[in-house]
Amino acid sequence: MQTIKLSNGVEMPQMGYGVYQIPPEECERCVSDALNVGYRMIDTAQAYWNEEGVGRAWKKSGIRREDIFLVTKVWISNYGEGQTMKSIEESLRKLQTDYIDLMLLHQPFCDRYGAYRDLEKAYKSGKLRAIGVSNFYPDHLVDLAANMEIAPMVNQVETHVFNQQLEARKYMDEIGTRIMSWGPLAEGKNNFFHYPTLAGIGAKHNKSVAQVALRWLIQSGVIIIPKSSRKERMAENLNIFDFELDADDMSAIAMLDEKRSLFIDHHDGQMAKQFMDWRSLVKPAQ
Ligand SMILES: NC(=O)c1ccc[n+]([C@@H]2O[C@H](COP(=O)([O-])OP(=O)(O)OC[C@H]3O[C@@H](n4cnc5c(N)ncnc54)[C@H](OP(=O)(O)O)[C@@H]3O)[C@@H](O)[C@H]2O)c1
Repeated sequence: MQTIKLSNGVEMPQMGYGVYQIPPEECERCVSDALNVGYRMIDTAQAYWNEEGVGRAWKKSGIRREDIFLVTKVWISNYGEGQTMKSIEESLRKLQTDYIDLMLLHQPFCDRYGAYRDLEKAYKSGKLRAIGVSNFYPDHLVDLAANMEIAPMVNQVETHVFNQQLEARKYMDEIGTRIMSWGPLAEGKNNFFHYPTLAGIGAKHNKSVAQVALRWLIQSGVIIIPKSSRKERMAENLNIFDFELDADDMSAIAMLDEKRSLFIDHHDGQMAKQFMDWRSLVKPAQ
């Protein structure tokens, strides 16, 4: 698997498997299938309620801990100095490991400074190999990086052919933050899996729309974690390292950028209020 070097020198697989919206009772089977077809990086979160399933699957796989890259995220109900540390301990227990490869702050709301200070402490003590954020757009990212000791190494944001994040990437590049895509297949929105431009490029290379879109992200230097509950699609999505998009393909896909989210506006006041309600999604760690 191709890797991307983070600012602290850690090599992270450029492609992994995401488990958002996979119910807790299905997660172990899905992650076992994903490891079986060759994924070695798993992306979960406290707010997906399935960290235990990830932990059971990698433990049973027989794969050495150092050959797996585990990513999880702190939910906003666990933000704040001391509280975030308790939640890191809880995630470690659920994932059945004594270190996490990459831990992110999931959202730019609530006490993100206190939370990030705990990430820094846990990083320094070796519980976390790398730290970063998710859904931090330039305003929040610049602010956090300027006020914390260690700049976020990764920022996981919605990134796909219809929302390419070119402007946000300029700020990430300045700070030394690597971009990681969530929703690399746009969760199928915008007629994604039948989109004519992508289907045409796919026909040329004998690849599916999903494979073209994921390959485009890989060639654009983005870390990706597509989700599928189906083993055959997990394998299909991983099978993108035997072809290359040419300059014409890349410019045709560049034209698809709508420069806006298909999901959520983190700057909208109503959405901020919604997040305050979503604090209760995860019980604070004890
Ligand atoms: N940080 C955040 O706020 C945030 C937000 C969202 C997601 N994420 C992370 O990013 C990961 C990926 O994003 P996502 O799950 O939202 O969406 P996604 O990977 O863009 O799309 C997943 C959807 O595409 C379908 N699919 C997958 N491969 C396919 C294929 N080859 N052909 C046809 N359909 C296919 C899946 O259906 P089936 O399962 O039925 O195959 C599922 O409905 C998540 O799992 C999570 O780890 C993070």
